[in-house]
Amino acid sequence: MATINPEFANLPAAYLFSEIARRTREFQSQNPGVEVMRLGIGNTTEPLTPKTLQGLRLVVEKLASVETYTGYGDEQGDARLRQALAEWYQQKGLRVQPQEVFISDGAKTDSANVSSIFDRDNIIAVQDPVYPVYVDSNVIAGRVGKLQDGIYDNLVYMRGTEENGFVSPPPQTKADLIFLCYPNNPTGAVATKDQLQAFVNYARTHRSVIVFDAAYSAYVSDPNLPRSIYEIESARECAIEINSFSKWAGFTGVRLGWTVVPMDLVVEDTAPEQLNAAWNRRQTTMFNGASNIAQEGGLAVLTEEGQKECQGLVNYYMESTHIIRQTLEDLRIRTFGGINAPYVWMRTPNGLNSWEFFDKLLSEAHVVGTPGVGFGPGGEGYFRLAGFGHRENILRATESIRQNLKI
Ligand code: MLT
Repeated sequence: MATINPEFANLPAAYLFSEIARRTREFQSQNPGVEVMRLGIGNTTEPLTPKTLQGLRLVVEKLASVETYTGYGDEQGDARLRQALAEWYQQKGLRVQPQEVFISDGAKTDSANVSSIFDRDNIIAVQDPVYPVYVDSNVIAGRVGKLQDGIYDNLVYMRGTEENGFVSPPPQTKADLIFLCYPNNPTGAVATKDQLQAFVNYARTHRSVIVFDAAYSAYVSDPNLPRSIYEIESARECAIEINSFSKWAGFTGVRLGWTVVPMDLVVEDTAPEQLNAAWNRRQTTMFNGASNIAQEGGLAVLTEEGQKECQGLVNYYMESTHIIRQTLEDLRIRTFGGINAPYVWMRTPNGLNSWEFFDKLLSEAHVVGTPGVGFGPGGEGYFRLAGFGHRENILRATESIRQNLKI
């Protein structure tokens, strides 16, 4: 008799963004004709750039003819794209080889799968608040103990607070796999080089591994802030980096990302190259490679012209983010992030809890945001607004907040 993985009963009832979508639908069915403005999920809205489209179309055309058709590619990714990404790092003065780059269908997939190359007993540490995928995937894998009062009893929480600028220091206790996301989703905070160096030092002392989610790195405009964990000395020995074309090039629907597993990466019981080989084994077994269309698009993004055009997209979303942040500040709401990241993190007014404020914002201003508590216990009393969206929607939503939100 087959039995279900019992860990599913140990998860929150619904994935955060599915729950938001459900509540929004319910509001719409109860309020027909009311236009809802979405600043919730970080979903891109602007068209792909001309150079990217040229790349995508190239493969679409090739697929139309028997002479140029291609089927399966390498599971690790198109060699040209792995090379181009290695060069992209090298242009920033960072040492990454093509064999260390694995192309994926997006950062979320790899964030959820990366723990599989580590022992089931490894202790997981996450930032709190946190992008829920790192936690939920490890719940499903049976790594984090039982959920009691919103807290997993075998998970190390690194609490981000107003006092530490939502950049928590390394844990006080031993952790084996440490998930970090900078620029941070959801708080919009960005760790400095010194703050990341403290994590690298911790990881080297404890022979832990940092899983660094850099999906929003293109949004860092301050030249003093790091965009990659490999800007930190010795990080190649202790860090895996995950990144994505989604928020940078508008590939949320196209699907393309990558993960760097350095040859130098070692843990307690491995020699150099062993973890890279383990991830290679995992990918060749469980993944058949990213779409060849998407990968050609990725190659186009990485050209000089492509990068320039995509910077235009990033600038557009950041201008929207600034509009949101300014609106909240004008209303004297305590606001964080939104400067080197496309997310604005705010304290809920009048001591409302996160879901109470979700309902209030939706019913009064018809704006959907993301309740902070959905990102973990440390997010209670906070709320997130995302700067992805058409400008008219952002302007309409912020105007509605100014006019209709009663605070
Ligand atoms: C978010 O809104 O947090 C992101 O869009 C989620 C994601 O990228 O998967």
